[in-house]
Amino acid sequence: MKHKKNSYQCVLLKLSGEALMGDKAFGHDYQTLHRIAHDIKEVHDAGVQVCIVVGGGNIFRGSAASALGMERTAADYMGMLGTVMNALALQNILEQEKVHTRVLSAIPMISICEPYVRRKAKRHMEKGRVVIFAGGTGNPFFTTDSAAVLRAIEMDCDLLLKGTQVDGVYSDDPKKNTNAIKYSEVTYSEVLSNNLNVMDMAAIALARENNLPIKVFCITNKGEFAKVLAETGSYTKIHGK
Ligand code: GTP
Repeated sequence: MKHKKNSYQCVLLKLSGEALMGDKAFGHDYQTLHRIAHDIKEVHDAGVQVCIVVGGGNIFRGSAASALGMERTAADYMGMLGTVMNALALQNILEQEKVHTRVLSAIPMISICEPYVRRKAKRHMEKGRVVIFAGGTGNPFFTTDSAAVLRAIEMDCDLLLKGTQVDGVYSDDPKKNTNAIKYSEVTYSEVLSNNLNVMDMAAIALARENNLPIKVFCITNKGEFAKVLAETGSYTKIHGK
């Protein structure tokens, strides 16, 4: 049965690594992981095909290590390994919630998860499994936001949802500037030309080229994932003209 309250049939949820650490400074907060898994289950149980791209910033930040002097490609590969750890953690918690899952990694490591094969991923989703994409795009110099846009397009998703710490796109950092204005919707071109700090330029440009709508919302609000899909939650929509 498809989700009754919205028209989305297949969506990709982008989770930052930081979203998994709750109030901690590093790693995983299990209460937070369970809450996010519960939110994903709610949407999945309503009949929406869900796939996930997970970041790795709660374990290792390639860009930060590179800024401290580590060679960029090595730092990025270490960051990609962090995303695999997060994917396995999320898989484990989702399966505790009785959601069938598969982890597919852009970097083959067949002893612990399946390698990414587009047609296999599509088949898993058709069979009702939540597919978790690990390893980013498999290439250095690309963020997991770019991986999220890429996989959403490859999976023919209707929508990409970016779960962040804030409930949308603002004119300035709302944590630093209390006068920052939240946009209800914004175009890809406005995000690029106004340098709105929501996703990196490559990710937004790829979304624009393929007309993939994006909703940015606050993943820390319980049940918000389902609400945003039903258009009742708080979010900013990024789309074409
Ligand atoms: P279908 O048979 O198409 O429905 O998919 P399936 O994933 O259930 O079948 P498959 O026999 O491919 O996989 C059975 C289990 O092995 C699943 O939990 C897969 O995630 C896992 N699996 C499949 N391929 C690999 C692999 O290359 N590496 C690892 N580590 N696990 C794999």
